[in-house]
Amino acid sequence: MKEAVSCFKERFGEAPEHVAVAPGRLEFIGNHTDYNGGPVMGVAVDCVLGIALTRTEEETAELVDIGLDGRVVVPLADLKPVQGTDSWVNYPLGVYHVLKKAGVKLPGGFRMAIASTLPKGAGMSSSAAFELAAAYAYSAAFGFEADRKQMARYGRQAENEFVGVPCGILDQGVSAFGEENHIVSIDCKTETFGRVPMPAGVHFWVFNTQKKHALLDSLYETRHKECMEAFDMLKVKYPELECLADANLAQLDSLSGQMPEALFKRARHVITESMRVREMASALQDGDLKRMGGLLLASHASSRHDFENSCDELDFLVDELRELGGVHGCRLTGGGFGGAVMAVTDSTFSDATAKEACARYRERFGHTPKVFHTRTGAGAHVVEPVEA
Ligand code: GLA
Repeated sequence: MKEAVSCFKERFGEAPEHVAVAPGRLEFIGNHTDYNGGPVMGVAVDCVLGIALTRTEEETAELVDIGLDGRVVVPLADLKPVQGTDSWVNYPLGVYHVLKKAGVKLPGGFRMAIASTLPKGAGMSSSAAFELAAAYAYSAAFGFEADRKQMARYGRQAENEFVGVPCGILDQGVSAFGEENHIVSIDCKTETFGRVPMPAGVHFWVFNTQKKHALLDSLYETRHKECMEAFDMLKVKYPELECLADANLAQLDSLSGQMPEALFKRARHVITESMRVREMASALQDGDLKRMGGLLLASHASSRHDFENSCDELDFLVDELRELGGVHGCRLTGGGFGGAVMAVTDSTFSDATAKEACARYRERFGHTPKVFHTRTGAGAHVVEPVEA
């Protein structure tokens, strides 16, 4: 990651000692299944966030970002989340915080420079990339060892406890376990990570509406809470259930009329979505792209009608894209309530086809979505040796 290295040199006046990178992700299928103990699949993209880092004596963090002026200086003793415009530092500081809490020795402080080819707010989880790159940079600088699973857990814990978002393990897990031409498959209940080869000739296109619901974080929390409440009701009747994704439709149906409508729909989404992820595993194994596409569309329909985390812009894009040549399937990707649609296509889908979809979108909404044709990439890692 040359950009992070040159940013470090420019702002701190010396070469960094360590560099680490981590990719963004696309949620392939498994919408809001992760924190419900369900299965989920994602791919790491080839855009990365890079961190250049050097240890220092003082117990202070100094952070710079290639795209931002100035330097954020934070004392590391008694670390608390930073508020306001500098709050972007909470991702790497959150990881530092959870490592310390876990008993990892992190003497002194550090200087960190950040550069990214991963667009912020593009629906590809730059925050998880930030957390994982930080975790790997610290491991190189402070000399501790942890496997990929543990690194993903540290990242998620930072997001849950320091940043304050009750997310599951999807984003950090995919950023840690990504591999070129592979889909990362996670069983979130057992935290088992696997990789499935991607069928040949499949392409990923991301259409980012650039729309972000003003209440995005609180809506995510609300959905999280609704799922927990639905699970609590199911567990009273079926004490053997360990998580919402464990339940089946017959069990849910037995509570019809008793469970509030909204909770019932959230639970139905999580249960059917978990079934779709499992079916996707077999469709991929068979190389059945038609079935794969159908499952992606069914996933979107379920998010739209049952989980109610879609919006007009996302629905419009899905409805338009699915009719275009070369599209196997498409769906909203990530948390929802705005954000991005992912289209999985063959090689005949081109910039011109993407433009056609964007033109129709602009006619309706007055602005153009941002389009990314992404390739799959490798998971988070330390870059050695540091490029001069
Ligand atoms: C966000 C969260 C993930 C996951 C998805 C929805 O990306 O960070 O943990 O819950 O939303 O599937």
